[in-house]
Amino acid sequence: MKRILITGVDGQIGSELFELFRHDEGVDHVVGLDIRPPQKRQWRENGLFELCDATDKDALRQVIKKYEITNIFHLVGILSAKGENNPDLAWHVNMTSLKNILELAQEFDLKIFWPSSIAVFGLSAPRENTPQNTILDPTTIYGITKVSGELLCNYYHQKFAIDVRSIRFPGIISYDTPPGGGTTDYAVDMFYYALRQEKYTCFVSPETTLPMMYMADAIKSILDIMRAEKQQIKVRTSYNVTGISFSARELELEICKHFPGFSCSYKPDYRQRIADSWPCTIDDSLARQQWNWQHQFDLAKITADMIENLKSKATV
Ligand code: SER
Repeated sequence: MKRILITGVDGQIGSELFELFRHDEGVDHVVGLDIRPPQKRQWRENGLFELCDATDKDALRQVIKKYEITNIFHLVGILSAKGENNPDLAWHVNMTSLKNILELAQEFDLKIFWPSSIAVFGLSAPRENTPQNTILDPTTIYGITKVSGELLCNYYHQKFAIDVRSIRFPGIISYDTPPGGGTTDYAVDMFYYALRQEKYTCFVSPETTLPMMYMADAIKSILDIMRAEKQQIKVRTSYNVTGISFSARELELEICKHFPGFSCSYKPDYRQRIADSWPCTIDDSLARQQWNWQHQFDLAKITADMIENLKSKATV
């Protein structure tokens, strides 16, 4: 019987994946794990949730044993901007937890999903159509943990045959749980300000262009890669995967089509340098060829869907 564990379940991706699996697999087949108590009432009232620090290997082992876990979606992580404010913590949380998960995967024969990021790229990689295989010289501690994590995943796959699969995520736009501490967070923040009819001060310049993806596509990419046959997964570091790319100004203008009074001012801070070190567009043809990756949401669709959902959330 398949039993799923999602670490970092209270985060942007974890919370949506948890809901999906609870619905599709049944609440008794998926366990949420986080260092904080669950924010959603329905998780407290019904289903399986464990308060646990993923850097504590023994505690993780107990959870895996208790629920006879078979698959882990390891989503614990400190993102790029927050990581710059506390590099030691970012290294400790991101690396120790991943190493724990990989060691436990070996002990219990688990299948693993782990997210990497466009933050693996630095100033030496081409910024347009950034290839799968290129120089990886990240400038952030977050990016360094992602490169190291990718290599660790590949090592555990080569040496111990661990079935670990990974995607280099771009910025993810969603309406359910906001992201926290990322450089791409402005793309989500803008929507919340527009809905409240407030002006938004954007922390990157209007021409800053980054690869982005709608949450529905991010979830689809995770399910697609995890459901693919083993032999389709030829990259065991992490796959380039993307949806679309747009500038901060293009997003502002798209939101203006729905809220004509909306506007942004631009006041770049330390996150601008991070954004400037990342790709503008990504070549994800390998994921498209090897496990049929296809995104579904473009900027117009993302914007319309975000606004519709945020509006209905506001009226609940
Ligand atoms: N969204 C992430 C960040 O901004 C990138 O993986 O840190």
